[in-house]
Amino acid sequence: MKYFLSLALISCAIGSVSAQKINVKKQFAFAESQTNLMLEEIKEADARKGQVMPRTLEDGKLKLVVSKDWTSGFFPGELWYLYEYTRDAKWLDLARKFTGKLQKEQFNTGTHDLGFIMFCSYGNGLRLTGDQAYKDIVIQSSKSLSKRFSPSAGVIRSWDHNRDKWLYPVIIDNMMNLEMLFAATKLTGDSSFYKIAVTHADNTLKNHFRPDYSTYHVIDYHEADGTVRKKNTHQGYNDESAWARGQAWALYGYTLCFRETKNAVYLNQAEKVADFILSQLPKDMVPYWDYNDPGIPGVSRDASAAAIAASALFELSLYSKNAKGYKKAARKMLKSLSAKYASEPGTNRGFILDHSTGHKPKNSEVDVPINYADYYYLEALLRYKNMK
Ligand code: GLY
Repeated sequence: MKYFLSLALISCAIGSVSAQKINVKKQFAFAESQTNLMLEEIKEADARKGQVMPRTLEDGKLKLVVSKDWTSGFFPGELWYLYEYTRDAKWLDLARKFTGKLQKEQFNTGTHDLGFIMFCSYGNGLRLTGDQAYKDIVIQSSKSLSKRFSPSAGVIRSWDHNRDKWLYPVIIDNMMNLEMLFAATKLTGDSSFYKIAVTHADNTLKNHFRPDYSTYHVIDYHEADGTVRKKNTHQGYNDESAWARGQAWALYGYTLCFRETKNAVYLNQAEKVADFILSQLPKDMVPYWDYNDPGIPGVSRDASAAAIAASALFELSLYSKNAKGYKKAARKMLKSLSAKYASEPGTNRGFILDHSTGHKPKNSEVDVPINYADYYYLEALLRYKNMK
């Protein structure tokens, strides 16, 4: 019964956005012109010490971040996607230039976000150019990330901050960093990266999810035996709420785990998370920042969560029996993003999408453009185009 109810809710959500086709060419032309503007803005702001990548807008001004920031890989990743779509040498040169700014992070063992940082940049660069230097950097980055895996806990440690609150915190976002580890095993033949990735995915599957397949944000472990200490949130409404971007990371994470392992357990998890998300979406398919904020509909959206989920749903549709439903939902999300959530041309200092929410409980990055929304939007457009 619950299953049929959720299917009914899903088709209701899918039914309320126009099913028109997306004009990928037009969207990429828009992305190119916005990115040209962004490059000018970066030049203006370049004098700020060590800050190399655009992240968001703060009081209307472009906020640049240092290479170790968790979002630093997204702008180079966008440049790679522009190159992938246009095959224009201009974007190749720029992608190489901005990717190169992150080189030293390959040795960074202080963050679990190394997959975001190095795989969106160097990983895409390797995929599109086959450059041996990029391969070496992806491998070294994977070695650095692996240092954060504890065999006794069976998971990769996420954060080192808030030590008074958490002993060994793991956040659902961390599923995204596994993609680089799977790549490292394929590049080296060393299965240890793969084993870390599946162990982390298995334990996350066991501990992070509620019976309705929504996910907690933070699980705190006892490192000695991998038992759970606490189930919390950090960026969501409260510990028991479903923070929209976290759900999207879970969907994307288990979809990629199925791609890399062909383990049907991961496919089932991705489908269940997808069905949860689709049962919660508002009519225009772009989530409020947290599905359980009691202030809905008077609270901010998170366009980034929609972009991440759309990209994941396109991929999931390649593997799932519900291919048609997931593809249709993803198309409607993309359509809604391009029609209602894009920046006005020539504004927002070159960001493509507006209306993302970074960290609502801290009142930080609320209803603003953010680089990862743009990255996954371009990725979703490319996936849509390739499926056509
Ligand atoms: N990984 C941090 C975030 O999604 O905000």
